[in-house]
Amino acid sequence: MKFFIDTANLSDIAEAQALGVLDGVTTNPSLMAKEGITGAKNILKHYVDICNIVDGDVSAEVIATDFEGMVQQGEELAALHPQIVVKLPMIADGVKACKYFSDKGIKTNVTLVFSPGQALLAAKAGATYMSPFLGRLDDISTDGLQLIAEIRQIYDNYGFETQILAASIRHTMHVINCAKIGADVMTGPLSSITGLLKHPLTDSGLAQFLLDYQKGN
Ligand code: E4P
Repeated sequence: MKFFIDTANLSDIAEAQALGVLDGVTTNPSLMAKEGITGAKNILKHYVDICNIVDGDVSAEVIATDFEGMVQQGEELAALHPQIVVKLPMIADGVKACKYFSDKGIKTNVTLVFSPGQALLAAKAGATYMSPFLGRLDDISTDGLQLIAEIRQIYDNYGFETQILAASIRHTMHVINCAKIGADVMTGPLSSITGLLKHPLTDSGLAQFLLDYQKGN
């Protein structure tokens, strides 16, 4: 299972990278705005800064909602750095743009997926990654994990190579349950990764080992 961090915060990205378990980064316009990164020039520079920290795929989202605009912006994003993955919304022109980029060998991430049918379309268009938004479904009392499981079954039935990127992860149990289902990738905040470390028996066991070592010295 690949671990992506879902943020535009450089210090969180650096911390996850330093832990040695990070495989990539996802961002979106809201995450950029949260870090105060606004304006096309600053956003493009920030993508390059992220690529220079992380060793792996970095999703950069187009803002255009028409095919021509998505192609133009996606090509500009892809030219920024070899690690860039063009992130496209799950709308008709986004599916067309996904097919365009996959035919050219440019990696894509189809975002804002909320149903198995949308996931099927993304795979048919050759998406590298397809992002179902688990947390946002849970927020409206719909079972996000059930969606991930249904998509896993559909992709396995036909051997689709599109990777299921479980997005909108909110906490460690989302990560663990996605791993059980077989999501290829998860993307979440730093806390959803570092939270996996925590267990009181690890802490108390380590404290006892250190105490006992001191007794022998
Ligand atoms: C990632 O690609 C998505 O943009 C992100 O996971 C959305 O998460 P949110 O629902 O916490 O905003």
